[in-house]
Amino acid sequence: MPAVVIVGAQWGDEGKGKVTDLVGDRVEYVVRYQGGNNAGHTVVIGDQSYALHLLPSGVLSPDVVPVIGGGVVLDPAVLFEEIEGLQERGVSCDRLLISANAHLIMPHHRALDKVSERYLGKARIGTTGRGIGPTYGDKIARMGIRVQDLFDPGILRKKLELALREKNQLLTKVYNRRGIAIDAVVEEYVTYGERLRPYVADTTLVLNQALEDDKVVLLEGAQGTLLDVDHGTYPFVTSSSPTAGGACTGSGIGPTRITKVIGILKAYTTRVGSGPFPTELLDEWGEFLRKTGGEYGVTTGRNRRCGWFDAVIGRYATRVNGMTDYFLTKLDVLSGLEKVPVCVAYEVDGERTDDLPMTQTDFHHATPVYEYLDGWWENISEARTFADLPHNAQAYVRRLEEMVGAPVSAIGVGPGRDQTMEIRPLI
Ligand code: GDP
Ligand code: IMO
Ligand code: MG
Repeated sequence: MPAVVIVGAQWGDEGKGKVTDLVGDRVEYVVRYQGGNNAGHTVVIGDQSYALHLLPSGVLSPDVVPVIGGGVVLDPAVLFEEIEGLQERGVSCDRLLISANAHLIMPHHRALDKVSERYLGKARIGTTGRGIGPTYGDKIARMGIRVQDLFDPGILRKKLELALREKNQLLTKVYNRRGIAIDAVVEEYVTYGERLRPYVADTTLVLNQALEDDKVVLLEGAQGTLLDVDHGTYPFVTSSSPTAGGACTGSGIGPTRITKVIGILKAYTTRVGSGPFPTELLDEWGEFLRKTGGEYGVTTGRNRRCGWFDAVIGRYATRVNGMTDYFLTKLDVLSGLEKVPVCVAYEVDGERTDDLPMTQTDFHHATPVYEYLDGWWENISEARTFADLPHNAQAYVRRLEEMVGAPVSAIGVGPGRDQTMEIRPLI
């Protein structure tokens, strides 16, 4: 009954989509357990590139059952657009299952996400503007609207009336925007309900039965550890729990079922949106990483902020997720450097610390302490075994492994499915 979790170890965009796709033919179910269409996962298969936002990346493997768990927030229009886009390219989404408990992103959530960011001015989070935060906010405040509510138009209207009573006041009186008319929304969402109905299932029952039957369930996190609402760089985080614990609540699988937690770790660091980032490079080296690594957002098209590898973050990710393995991605991007700086610790107000500072204030003051590892010149995109890597690239991986405290079991040397080496079987 193996349940395996894939979790981003940094600030997202580590290459989770590629890894999920890679192991797609070894698993029976792939579950998204949190987040929504704030995610952007690029999967490259042969000469085809797919950008996924809401659907689990396992959808591209023909025998996988993709599942949208109850911890996800779902924008139905986005889902249908994604399904249609894939169908046009010959990818079937017929096996998709959606939890009846997943919360819906409503028009007022999208409107409030955009307008509240504008009001925050310089203090803004830099959200994706997809309505993620307001939807999770309402979920926790117990005024959310769930997939199952679409099957009872009377209940849907009642819940929406309650929500809009407050949200329209906010939109019109605080933010000076137009209010939202209920009738059009009810009509739109009831139609969505009809289209969603064939996919909706008691997904926790299905997944637990699958585990009883010894099927392999892969729990695919979106975002990353440092964007976790509890364990990330709050308030510059997303509003859900990408860390391994979130895989249980977001899917309805108990913690005792989880057999492996695979962290996806980029060989350097990136982040999108605002918030502290100790190893950020604002010089030509940042530009080098952005250009060489193609670090532009899949969802919003924004430039990703880039910096050297941060082992403090890595160690922290190992700790809060209980990582059993790492998949190190984008090692190829670092080819051609004389020396590769790696942040081994921080200095906070003159004092060295090996761990993430306890307070936000200290984290904002943290400056990286670098170790300079020897670089390599060779193009490694054709390497398929660890022995194929130049000696210094091997040493880089070994040093990272030592610093983060969990084994690197696989390495990515390019975006393609086959541009991977598995040192030991991931699943
Ligand atoms: P995700 O959000 O974690 O799924 O990651 P994204 O898809 O947003 O960003 C990762 C990007 O790096 C994508 O464009 C991938 O195709 C690409 N990628 C993944 N692994 C590798 C790798 O090992 N090397 C290179 N060069 N690109 C990679
Ligand atoms: P994947 O799954 C990188 C960031 C946003 C913003 C913050 C909050 O592709 O790794 P939100 O819209 O979630 O309320 O925005 O979180 N963010 C991501 N950054 N990768 C992602 O997803 C992200 N999803 C959200 O940029 O800083
Ligand atoms: Mg991404």
